[in-house]
Amino acid sequence: MSTVARTDASHIAVHWKEEDYVQPSPKFVGQANLSDPAVVERFKEEHFPECFREYADMLAWDRYWHTTLDTSNPPFWKWFVGGTLNACYNCVDRHLAKYKNKAALIFVPESETEPTYTLTYQELYIRVNEVAAVLRDFCGLKAGDRVTIHMPMILELPITMLACARLGIVHSVVFGGFSGEAAGLRAADSGSRVMVYADAYYRNGKLIDHKTSADIAVQTAANEGQTIDKVLVWRRKDGQDLSNTAMVSGRDYYMEDLLERFRRAKVAPVSVGAEHPLFLMYTSGTTGKPKGCQHRTGGYLAYVTGTSKYYQDIHPEDVYWCMADIGWITGHSYIVYGPLALAATSVIYEGVPNYPDAGRCWRIAEQLDVNIFHTSPTAIRLLRKAGPDEPLKYNYRFKHMTTVGEPIEPESWRWYWEVVGKREAVIVDTWWQTETGGFLCTTKPALDPMKAGSTGPGALGIYPIIYDEHGKEIPAGAGRAGNVCIRNPWPGIMQTIWKDNDRFVRQYYSKYCKDPKSTDWRDWPYFAADGAVLAGDGYYRILGRVDDVINVAGHRLGTKEIESACLTVPQVAEAAVVPVVDEIKGRMPAIYASLKPDVTDGAHVSEQIVATVETIIGKIARPKAVHIVPDLPKTRSGKIMRRILAAISNRMDTGDVTTLANPEIVEQIRKQVQGEGPVELQEGPEDVKRFGEQE
Ligand code: WT7
Repeated sequence: MSTVARTDASHIAVHWKEEDYVQPSPKFVGQANLSDPAVVERFKEEHFPECFREYADMLAWDRYWHTTLDTSNPPFWKWFVGGTLNACYNCVDRHLAKYKNKAALIFVPESETEPTYTLTYQELYIRVNEVAAVLRDFCGLKAGDRVTIHMPMILELPITMLACARLGIVHSVVFGGFSGEAAGLRAADSGSRVMVYADAYYRNGKLIDHKTSADIAVQTAANEGQTIDKVLVWRRKDGQDLSNTAMVSGRDYYMEDLLERFRRAKVAPVSVGAEHPLFLMYTSGTTGKPKGCQHRTGGYLAYVTGTSKYYQDIHPEDVYWCMADIGWITGHSYIVYGPLALAATSVIYEGVPNYPDAGRCWRIAEQLDVNIFHTSPTAIRLLRKAGPDEPLKYNYRFKHMTTVGEPIEPESWRWYWEVVGKREAVIVDTWWQTETGGFLCTTKPALDPMKAGSTGPGALGIYPIIYDEHGKEIPAGAGRAGNVCIRNPWPGIMQTIWKDNDRFVRQYYSKYCKDPKSTDWRDWPYFAADGAVLAGDGYYRILGRVDDVINVAGHRLGTKEIESACLTVPQVAEAAVVPVVDEIKGRMPAIYASLKPDVTDGAHVSEQIVATVETIIGKIARPKAVHIVPDLPKTRSGKIMRRILAAISNRMDTGDVTTLANPEIVEQIRKQVQGEGPVELQEGPEDVKRFGEQE
């Protein structure tokens, strides 16, 4: 506990103007997958857990399950027990009879002079089989083995994932923008002995040599005691060497060469149990080490398929474009698995949204006739700033749009609605997490009105609740914020943290568990670590993280991870990382560091800190500011008061600091960061106000 007096967050009153409802157009409603209000009844709590049969029945099962939900070992829920299936078969093979000539994936290279590339379901089937043959017969991999895939947004990424799924191999995709070190640590944690890379890719007009990361990753994994014996390298352009990094003989293999040996190979899909892990997705948490969220095959696939159908309104004839990166959970669930399970056409764009100019996205939409569009508030803010009128110049029509990843302010929402969606496209603001597999809160696009800045009610079969710090429910319309939890299990929830069951229980269930001995799911609410307010109409407004995770452009970064990176710079004595508000990215990290005695060259150390953070984590963690300070504010027991630093970085009230061990440092740092003169204090967003509270 901090020694500084402060308000209990659960009693912070949250005031904002209630936005008006916006109704979906009759045209959208007329064609929507989910237009019968009876669905609400079907998913009511009295029909739980059997209501989720509706999602599982959208899949092809090799053997039907006998138990929908097994709660015998909480909170390690089991879904669709007794069932067997194959995820790749469900996303590819089963569509061939009807849709073999239909586009499954359309690749849009960043350069506009390079043509788009379309893969039909038949072509996807052929390619996935050949890659599966490489994994099985050349690499010797089998069901349950892990493979780490560190790749950019190219077609070969989902092809590799599906090839793994075909064999029951557990894939662990690491976002291409993460560093080789980050990939190596994750590969070691997962126990992968094979890594899959691409040699290079284009981003922001530049060719990025990605193969260099492979060498760093293998070395990092080796330092952790994990040998990577094979690195499979996809070439971004067939037959061309775009990377300057040498191939290591006996370790590195071009996929192109290996595939020569497996032309026309067919690999039967391996039928796995519903609880067999499908993939790991590492995400930041409250300690330094990223955690491997382990997702199951049956429940996950059922959940993303059902939610893609009902909330993304995907029909096979739609052209669906989710602009997220497949290296994050959004891409897994809502570019690859959900859309492909529904035989959709899913667009994969290699580059950044505003390359070469602010009209790029809208040209892609026009060219491919995209009618479902899915992106983040950060991209919306960026595109709005870069070209507020651009969408109007292009002849595309969206029927449906999604915003996901961070809270969206009503002003940006309205631009999305009026200008991007041309007042025709329905919007869903979907709140969920890496851990949750799929949507937790969202409006039902044809059934619920939209409300700018609010995510909406719980998704079908999801029963959210807001608790205060003491486990007391904060009712709808109370105008008070609390911790949003989900009262029940659902098929998309992760199985556990890879190799760390204790951490899984501690992180998500200990806080509000009513009885650790109980096998009744009602005693095990899921703690999401987000602050939220519930309005009188049942719509949730998500305020942001309550732990020390910073949401940068919709991506989670752990402050502890960044701090550990800073501490590897030899001149740094102590470091603290706090969120600072950024106009486009939502939040960015700001670093406060004190130096060891006799180190004088602060400017140089600053540069080193930035470079080190980029090397250890990746460019995504690049700080907005580095402040080299004489000392960090501490309690008498020596705890660094990050909350005060966050207040300084965001020009908020630092509160009472007199009980600190070194109160005078606060004013000194404040002047250093904000300048000598008086500054106008700001209210600050809820997540920044609450930052550091759980320490
Ligand atoms: C955190 C999860 C969901 C997939 C992408 C991010 C924040 C997510 C929303 C939203 C407000 C949101 C939460 C959450 N978040 N969606 N619609 N409105 N906040 O997944 O990296 O696991 O991050 O993103 O704080 O806890 P993630």
